[in-house]
This record gives sequence, C-alpha cells and structure tokens, in this order.
Amino acid sequence: MLFSLAILLFIFPTVAALTDLQANCTGPDRRYNGTSCYVLGEPGITHSAAKLLCNHYLGYSGHLVHIRNAAVQATARELTTTYFFANVRVYTGLEPINSSAALTDKNNWGYYYRNGTVVVPAYQQPWAAAHPSTTNRAYYTPSGDYIATQAENYAYYFLCEYEEALKQPVTDLEEKCANLTSASVFTLFVNDVCYVVQPAVTKNYNDAKVACNALSGCNGQLAHVRTMSELWIADAVRSAAGVNLMARIGIEQTNLSSTDPNN
Ligand SMILES: *[C@@H]1O[C@H](CO)[C@@H](O)[C@H](O)[C@H]1NC(C)=O
Ligand SMILES: *[C@@H]1O[C@H](CO)[C@@H](O)[C@H](O)[C@H]1NC(C)=O
Ligand SMILES: *[C@@H]1O[C@H](CO)[C@@H](O)[C@H](O)[C@H]1NC(C)=O
Ligand SMILES: *[C@@H]1O[C@H](CO)[C@@H](O)[C@H](O)[C@H]1NC(C)=O
Ligand SMILES: *[C@@H]1O[C@H](CO)[C@@H](O)[C@H](O)[C@H]1NC(C)=O
Ligand SMILES: *[C@@H]1O[C@H](CO)[C@@H](O)[C@H](O)[C@H]1NC(C)=O
Repeated sequence: MLFSLAILLFIFPTVAALTDLQANCTGPDRRYNGTSCYVLGEPGITHSAAKLLCNHYLGYSGHLVHIRNAAVQATARELTTTYFFANVRVYTGLEPINSSAALTDKNNWGYYYRNGTVVVPAYQQPWAAAHPSTTNRAYYTPSGDYIATQAENYAYYFLCEYEEALKQPVTDLEEKCANLTSASVFTLFVNDVCYVVQPAVTKNYNDAKVACNALSGCNGQLAHVRTMSELWIADAVRSAAGVNLMARIGIEQTNLSSTDPNN
C-alpha cells in the first residue's frame, strides 16, 4: 500500500494535465504560451473588423493580442514569422484611450478587451521610432520586432488571444451570435449580449426598434449605450460594418412634451 502510494506520488507530477484551451491550441497558426492561446487571423482585414473575429474558441472572450510582457512579444515574433513571413504586419489590441486626445502621446494608448475596457500594461511597449504617429490603430511586425500605428481601414492579418482567466461556459446565445457572423453581418458577443449590425438595412426609428430580429427566438432591442465601454462596443460593430454615417441605438425622449434634451 505504502509502496504503491509512493509510486503514485512519484508518477503523478509527470502527468501534466492540459487545460481545455491548451489541448485545443494546436496547429501551425497558433501557440499556447503562459496562460493564453494566440491564434493568427486571416485574411487581411480592417482593424475594426479584425477585433470582432477573435472567435476561434468560444467562451474565452477572445480579443486582439495584448503585448503585456516580453514573453508575449517573443511568442508573437516566433509565431508570425514562422506562419507568415518576417515583414508581415498583424493587428494588436492597442488603440487610443481617448481618440480626441493626441495620438502621438504614448500614454494615450492601451489594450482593449472585447467589453471595451482598456488596460495599460506596465511593460514598456516596443514602439517603432517616431511612433505612435497620428493614425489610430497599431500593428506588430516581427521584422523590426516593434509596434507602429496605422489607420484602421488598412487590411492586415491579426493576432487573437484567448486567456484561461476569461473562461466562461459557452451559451446558446454566444453560439448563435458567432454563427450569425458573415461577410455582411457583424456581431460581437459581450457579457451575455449579442450586438449585431446589419448594414444593408436602413429604417426609420420606429421601424428599426421592432426590427432587431436577426436571432430567431430572441427579442432583440436597439443597443443600450450607457457607459464608455458600451460606446466602444457599439462603435466597434458600426465601424466593422462600414456604417460610416450613423446607426440607430435605443435612446429616445421619455417625455415628448419636454424640450429638455437630457430627458
Ligand atoms: C477542447 O477539446 C476537447 C476535446 O478534446 C473538448 O471537449 C473541449 O470542449 C474543447 N474546448 C474548446 C474550448 O474548444
Ligand atoms: C513562452 O514564450 C517564451 C518566449 O518565447 C519562452 O521563453 C517560453 O519558453 C515559452 N513558454 C512555453 C511554455 O512555451
Ligand atoms: C479626451 O481628450 C479631449 C481632448 O484633449 C478632452 O477634452 C477630453 O476631456 C478627454 N476625455 C476624457 C474622457 O478624458
Ligand atoms: C472587461 O473584461 C475585463 C477582463 O475580463 C475585466 O477585467 C473588466 O472588469 C471588464 N469590464 C467591464 C466593464 O465589465
Ligand atoms: C452553430 O453552428 C454550428 C456549426 O454549424 C452548429 O453545430 C451549432 O449547432 C450552431 N449553434 C447554434 C446555437 O445555432
Ligand atoms: C413632461 O414635460 C412637460 C413640459 O416640460 C411637463 O409639463 C410635464 O410635467 C412632463 N411630464 C412628466 C410626466 O414629467
């Protein structure tokens, strides 16, 4: 008994238990490092669209890569060089924190989660010389091993990240939301809400508010934009869909007799 227990204790640590994410993080376009799985995204696409396409693994709130330390940077370098080529450019999750403030200010850049929350890592970001510049998105390139800015409408490949810490059960709505995504329908699943833009459809307000029917079995509503994070989400899907003029959201006057614009 004691003897077999001793053998068990001896053998057990060598049988490394793989996490679900680790077990599925296989293939030439992806790497598991630290506690994240990094997956390259194709084809080349605008930054706005790229950030909605980190859906290789549902249930992990996938987002564009956060280069938060030297190991992530080294992983990005190795993976992008091996799978693509040395002077490829891949989009990262880096965006301005305040798009009205100076884009050339390094302190005005941070990494976004898909819920619109921004984080600024303590790690010194590997900016190229003379960057950040005056354009509003950032890519990483292995050839210079740096990040540099570019306008969001450039089509580049992208690098997604799936974190163990963000793991949640996959819901029916998340699956439906991901399944709805196509070349003409842009979606983002955040906090149990599926945001959808259907750019080919224009409607007056009253028609729009009863037309959120993209998902069968769900009574959709025009988007509620209550926080800066929700504004980031709404703007992300709008921009990805190429809706540049305006998109209706679920805000209306509560008292039609009032002239108070805040009502
Ligand atoms: C990973 O693969 C296992 C089977 O190998 C499966 O049960 C699990 O759901 C997968 N997880 C993800 C996140 O795809
Ligand atoms: C993670 O990446 C770093 C940098 O490339 C490397 O030193 C380390 O060995 C990697 N860890 C694993 C578990 O692959
Ligand atoms: C963003 O920057 C503009 C221009 O500097 C400034 O007026 C505004 O207050 C800033 N917004 C926030 C939320 O900090
Ligand atoms: C967004 O997600 C990040 C990562 O899970 C989390 O730290 C943050 O609190 C979330 N923000 C909101 C507003 O829920
Ligand atoms: C989403 O699509 C997959 C693959 O076609 C399918 O197996 C799954 O049932 C779909 N999920 C929902 C909720 O429609
Ligand atoms: C609606 O606004 C009108 C005009 O300001 C005001 O007289 C009325 O009391 C308001 N009604 C309610 C329910 O607040």
